[in-house]
Amino acid sequence: MAMIALKCPDIEVVVVDIAVARINAWNSDRLPIFEPGLDEVVKACRGRNLFFSADVEKHVAAADIVFVSVNTPTKTRGLGAGKAADLTYWESAARMIADVSKSDKIVVEKSTVPVKTAEAIEKILTHNNKGINFQILSNPEFLAEGTAIEDLAKPDRVLIGGRETPEGRKAVEALKAVYAHWVPEENIITMNLWSAEISKLAANAILAQRISSINAMSALCEATGADVAEVAYAVGKDSRIGPKFLNASVGFGGSCFQKDILNLVYICECNGLTEVANYWKQVVQINDYQKSRFVKRVVSSMFNTVSGKKIAVLGFAFKKDTGDTRETAAIDVCHGLLGDNAKISVYDPQVTADQIMRDLAMNKFDWDHPQHLQPMSPTATKQVDVVWDAYEATKGAHGVCILTEWDEFKKLDYKRIYDGMQKPAFIFDGRNVINVDELRKIGFVVYSVGKPLDPWVKDLPAAPPS
Ligand code: UGA
Repeated sequence: MAMIALKCPDIEVVVVDIAVARINAWNSDRLPIFEPGLDEVVKACRGRNLFFSADVEKHVAAADIVFVSVNTPTKTRGLGAGKAADLTYWESAARMIADVSKSDKIVVEKSTVPVKTAEAIEKILTHNNKGINFQILSNPEFLAEGTAIEDLAKPDRVLIGGRETPEGRKAVEALKAVYAHWVPEENIITMNLWSAEISKLAANAILAQRISSINAMSALCEATGADVAEVAYAVGKDSRIGPKFLNASVGFGGSCFQKDILNLVYICECNGLTEVANYWKQVVQINDYQKSRFVKRVVSSMFNTVSGKKIAVLGFAFKKDTGDTRETAAIDVCHGLLGDNAKISVYDPQVTADQIMRDLAMNKFDWDHPQHLQPMSPTATKQVDVVWDAYEATKGAHGVCILTEWDEFKKLDYKRIYDGMQKPAFIFDGRNVINVDELRKIGFVVYSVGKPLDPWVKDLPAAPPS
């Protein structure tokens, strides 16, 4: 919305939220999320044509176009639990729009939703329409965190789905005119509603599938002495495959990939497509395998136990350049290490101690609900300590796990880290950011995902029985 305000000075944009604290933060000098370049964009238009308000109903009533970007968590109970998207928040937003509207509106699905959601929303909006015309559009977002501003300023494509009626086409044109302020016309794609809804799920599923593919290869590389980075480079040189999104890692995280695939799996199952559902399920299963494989490497290398040992965790965000921790691989890795009774000291340049403690105490899938609906298990964090410096985290540690590819981890003084650690000193790089040879020269026992194994690690079973 900030980018629309920046590029369209003739349009007034009001961002509304029922969470007053969040709106206050958006109106303050310290925005509630960290995203490179976002501060500048917000500051350039806040108070000009970009406003943040908790007066939801007033601004929705006054709007011509309403973008709905509410959370769509994975259901944790009832039909489809653990897979299906929970549309509670969407439904209440739609009911509120219907109740407060006094003029025709275009309602835009910005949240990622299951295919055919627009049909349900249409029914809710028109259930007691007082002669008001609502047009539903699907306008999925493709930005990635950490590069959001760049992605929004120069999107590969903007996708708009609408009804194939004269009113539907008119609504599509109205939204197209907003993006046409800065996006070349050929990059604004229009299509029917269901294609647009599925395209979003398909794009995320295929991106995640690439990561699971290279992560599956990383296990084979470790078993055979190949180097996954070399393999990815060779494969990515094929112009049909391309070089992006082929970095092996400790596993993908983020608010979308797992959630969207589980949702896709559920939709396939509902349509009787068992084989298709199983195919996509495997992408998530390989991701879970990659995370538990990493934990097993750590435990088996360190004499089959980390009980009572200090392990430094460098990086907790799900990727670099964001403070977001939703579904980060670090949560599962820390749980695995805590399960073996390790003491964990975490350092992340952007994530607060409070957030890390909450993440480790929360039940799976609860992150997408408001805070008061997140039951906590305080015992989960007893052995965890969060510090504000990588040297502090690693001091006296037996092992170091790198779980986010922050640039600053490439430039650390590893000799200093080594000198401060217990011996043998272990380092487990889940992001391939360190120089393996240099660290081995210093004296570390090194594991780097998908790279030829250290003789120390090689002689151990890859996956001890759990
Ligand atoms: C992803 C998509 O890339 C966006 O296009 C989409 O709009 C967004 O989800 C969404 O649906 O909201 P995001 O989750 O912000 O964006 O971040 P990604 O850059 O896709 O990274 C996701 C995860 O995959 C991260 O944990 C990252 O470290 C991991 N990853 C990525 C790898 O392990 N290897 C790679 O080569 C690339």
